[in-house]
Amino acid sequence: MQKIYSFDELIDRVKTASVKWDQVDQLFHTEGLLPMWVADMDFRVPDEVTEALKKRIEHGIYGYTVQSESYLAAVQDWMMKRHDWKIRQEWICHSPGVVTALNLIVDGFTKPGDKVLIQPPVYPPFAKAVRNQGRECVTNPLIYHNGTYTMDFADLERKFSDPAVKMMILCSPHNPAGRVWSKDELLKVAESALKHDVLVVSDEIHSDLVFEGRKHIPYAGLSEDVADRSIVCTAPSKTFNIAGLQISNIIISNPSLRKTYLHQLRRFSLSEPNIPGMVAAEAAYQKGGEWLDQCLNYIKGNADYVSHFLNAHLPELTMVPLEGTYLGWIDCRKLGLNHLKLQDLILKKARVAFNQGYTFGSEGEGFVRINLACPRSLVEQAMSRLEKAVNSLKAQ
Ligand SMILES: Cc1ncc(COP(=O)(O)O)c(C=O)c1O
Repeated sequence: MQKIYSFDELIDRVKTASVKWDQVDQLFHTEGLLPMWVADMDFRVPDEVTEALKKRIEHGIYGYTVQSESYLAAVQDWMMKRHDWKIRQEWICHSPGVVTALNLIVDGFTKPGDKVLIQPPVYPPFAKAVRNQGRECVTNPLIYHNGTYTMDFADLERKFSDPAVKMMILCSPHNPAGRVWSKDELLKVAESALKHDVLVVSDEIHSDLVFEGRKHIPYAGLSEDVADRSIVCTAPSKTFNIAGLQISNIIISNPSLRKTYLHQLRRFSLSEPNIPGMVAAEAAYQKGGEWLDQCLNYIKGNADYVSHFLNAHLPELTMVPLEGTYLGWIDCRKLGLNHLKLQDLILKKARVAFNQGYTFGSEGEGFVRINLACPRSLVEQAMSRLEKAVNSLKAQ
């Protein structure tokens, strides 16, 4: 019989070394905040993951590691089953995290003076990974029109034609725009990137989090030529809420690119996966599909709740349609506040810790990002706090 998971349970995460819950007031300099920010879930992992961890813990020896055969097979099967993407086990390289990998990749595959292209508003560590290594960031901002985001291909082609642009970090699905890029869109990126010999690093950490009617297309699955000039970053961390176990999979089919990446891992002594991460991810990939489907349904319910709530009670605010990720992007520009005043309204008046849009690049000013991977009652509380704050603003 199929197990029914409940995602309504409020699980106390205070004093569990959770950055989302234990550091929120300190990081946002405000007390009593409802944490709806950093991208982890307030849901417990599938039971099969906990069982697998318990079993491994009982073994009692945790020495140095390699990626196990069974782990690699589980990743390979998941990519085939979930994304129709046939990969070879030797393509799967380790990283403790995708952001770590992005830093290693920018460092290892570009030289001082090279430029790296990103598409803001976008996950802030992309720009940091570029600047941390002393490289220059080039932006190809997304176009926001009629309530949805698309890519500006003419601008992309122009930017790629600068010979100093050697790399693009693609966010697919896109955080925070909520887009699951279509095959057509990805093909256009690939055509332009191949023409100008730009290496595409496709961050696909949200690829398992897509809603019904949408399909994630792995960038390197477009063709062999595309795979040859790309690196795909994936992870079970967002999908199964195991970011604290620090495991991700960097998939590189081109042997020469792989060699460079593996060299980077060794240089910084990052080659060995941690045991709980590998065990949890293997169990999740093997047995977590049903949990994930139910979880996605629940998150979709949260997204619909927010959209309807805003429509009915706060018509000045709209949430961009969510095709993938569990991160809602709310357009607050009709409130007419600059980004500092909007931040003040959200943090000091509403007392909700949303991510502020301006941190995703100037293109995100006037927006906030809400994490929807939590029990519905928290989403309801966040909306009610927001409504009161906006109404008090309007009453002034
Ligand atoms: C696009 C994107 N990449 C990477 C990460 C974080 O990856 P990791 O925790 O594996 O470094 C996030 C987390 O929100 C993300 O949204």
